[in-house]
Amino acid sequence: MKLLNVNRKFYQPIMMKAFMLLFVITFGCTSLYAQQQELKLKTEAQIVLETQHQALVLQVEENKDFNMSYLGPKLRDQQEYKLLRGMYKQTGDYTGMYAAAYTGSGARNLLEPAISVIHADGNQSLDLKYVRHEQRPIDKNITELQVDLKDAVYPFEVSLYYRMYSAEDLIEQWAVIRHQEKGRVELTKYASANLSLKADDFWLRHYHGDWITEMQAEETKLTHGIKTIDSKLGTRANLFQPSAFMLSIGRPSSENEGTVLLGGLEWSGNFKIDFELDPQDNLRILAGMNNYASTYVLKAQEDFITPKFLYTLSNEGMGKASRNLHNWARNYKLLDGQGDRLTLLNNWEATYFDFNEHKLFALLKDTKKLGVDLFLLDDGWFGNKYPRNADTSALGDWEENKEKLPNGLISLVREASRNEVKFGIWVEPEMVSPKSELYEKHPNWVVKQADRPEYYFRNQLVLDLSNPEVQDVVFKTLDDLFVKNPGLAYVKWDCNAVIYNAHSPYLKEQGNFYVDYVRGLYKVLAKFRKKYPKVPMMLCSGGGGRVDYGSLAYFTEYWPSDNTDPLERIFMQYEYSYFYPAIASANHVTDWGKQSMKFKVDVAMMGKLGFDIVVSELPEEELAFCQEAIKNYNQLKPIIWRGDQYRLADPKSEDYASICYVNEDKSEGVMFNYQVNYRQNKGSLMPIKLQGLDPQKQYRLEEINLYGQKQSPINSQAVYSGDFLMKVGFNPQLSTNRTSVVLKISESR
Ligand code: DGJ
Repeated sequence: MKLLNVNRKFYQPIMMKAFMLLFVITFGCTSLYAQQQELKLKTEAQIVLETQHQALVLQVEENKDFNMSYLGPKLRDQQEYKLLRGMYKQTGDYTGMYAAAYTGSGARNLLEPAISVIHADGNQSLDLKYVRHEQRPIDKNITELQVDLKDAVYPFEVSLYYRMYSAEDLIEQWAVIRHQEKGRVELTKYASANLSLKADDFWLRHYHGDWITEMQAEETKLTHGIKTIDSKLGTRANLFQPSAFMLSIGRPSSENEGTVLLGGLEWSGNFKIDFELDPQDNLRILAGMNNYASTYVLKAQEDFITPKFLYTLSNEGMGKASRNLHNWARNYKLLDGQGDRLTLLNNWEATYFDFNEHKLFALLKDTKKLGVDLFLLDDGWFGNKYPRNADTSALGDWEENKEKLPNGLISLVREASRNEVKFGIWVEPEMVSPKSELYEKHPNWVVKQADRPEYYFRNQLVLDLSNPEVQDVVFKTLDDLFVKNPGLAYVKWDCNAVIYNAHSPYLKEQGNFYVDYVRGLYKVLAKFRKKYPKVPMMLCSGGGGRVDYGSLAYFTEYWPSDNTDPLERIFMQYEYSYFYPAIASANHVTDWGKQSMKFKVDVAMMGKLGFDIVVSELPEEELAFCQEAIKNYNQLKPIIWRGDQYRLADPKSEDYASICYVNEDKSEGVMFNYQVNYRQNKGSLMPIKLQGLDPQKQYRLEEINLYGQKQSPINSQAVYSGDFLMKVGFNPQLSTNRTSVVLKISESR
């Protein structure tokens, strides 16, 4: 019956059209095309979504197909979106199929689908048709569109969501999948978004890496076929590849030129993003959770909510796109994105596992002496039956080690307060050591294949967060720390193992595991945030193995990499900065690298500053330098954290790197410059053009972070217009003797 209805609905307009055509031909009307268009407009609908500079146009076709017809600069005249029809030619019998806004598989689709399903009767086809849509304003800046689609044969529905952030030219897209079938329904693919773009060429910049080599960029022209970036690691899903990418449309983009889309999935688990250039030169982007080993069994009436796929489009190059992302992150996503952050001293590299209360008391004094806000106690403070004196035991046994800390953590919290600094703690709550009391007592809480040998990553296994009981245990680990140690002010949440032997002793449906693990993790984090909404927390994953906007909703900052060699960090921080704002980047000064202390501190200042050094062993001059630099940082941090960031010189193509930050009213800024090529004393031979200043304003540039008694060759009394600084530039005078130069920019009134 249902089917008949649909068919009648489908055929009625066609019959009408045929009749009209006959009429037109019979009466010899000359404007046949115009009449056809008019008729079409009655049976089709266009949905135009606009942000400040961009537009996304969706199309309900005559046959109720739902397509994406345009993503690009917004038009001055809304009426003209109608003229998009016919501008992009498709040939052959496939017309309409290429641009589906959410492609089902097994029916008319011939390319990579967004969704695949095995229905309760074993049938594998899905052909989603438009049913209704609703557009609602969320606030002055945000509008949300919901489009309901339904299969014509099966009681299977998908709602597509488009959340438009106007000022940031940013879109979040996701899907909600549900069914009312009687019996077992398996989702074998379930993308968050399905984009269809049209251009002559596409250039994809994506990233790869590993421990201490995070965020290595590669750019490639997309050729026909599919290019996939994905992860199958389960927990530290971004270790080999993050989902963050950049797509230049038409031609490769530069910092300030070109059309570029910056995107990524808000998901901390396995992901898959396909870029399929089809035979007719359309680019289909399919972004979502990875369906690898994850055929998901969905119960009737249950909403399967995909993570959000976010993207921003800029017609002014990568710089504008990344500032869009930074603004969006600080306003809407990153936890406490507009709030404050704590500078800190960490003890990981200063002590590793070798410390006791006495040593830590001394470090608390050093924290104060250095002038930072907080002391962060890293790994090694827990475990009694199996003390955590190496990375081979005790994860899961979150009780203070009685030998190292006979008076407990509370004694450290109190001592920190006596020293007028705050105290923070490292945890790795998702993990368990095979040598731990937790594992002995609860082997069924651990992810493993019972019949296979255990296989470890950093000598540890992963707890089964798909199990609600384990979620409670993990929440309690954190909660207990705060309940027992009032005053605890900071958490570093680490995650050092990937998932091997993926199998949940709890789940009935193993295909649900990878998805339900991350959902379990988010449940714990959400519960934690409900009780402790603002406690600053660092997202760490053996370096930068888990940096994404799904998790950053719960974290105030991320750890980019265990590689803190400042030269390497210039490159890494540069790449991360396309996607994440400086306030979120935890940059620590350590013993890594052969550079001077000044160079190290200058590099770490381009984000959230921290230290991991033995303060008591610093030569007097270095300590004095650090203390002074921290004071400078405290003055400049509002600009670094909340100002607009401009990348001025790319270390990959120049002999130096340069980045500046400018505050909102363009009255103050800071410019960081580093020489990265030490050969032939190549420094900044030319002035570096600044950006983001007011051409009408007058500025002075003063060199800060001067080491020791050194004089600066920069004349801080000279005045330059913003116009001059942006057109001619400024030479920071980098050389092999001046490998880093920090310039404070102030309006001269
Ligand atoms: C890996 C982290 O990246 C390090 O900073 C440190 O916390 C260690 N884990 C501790 O085991």
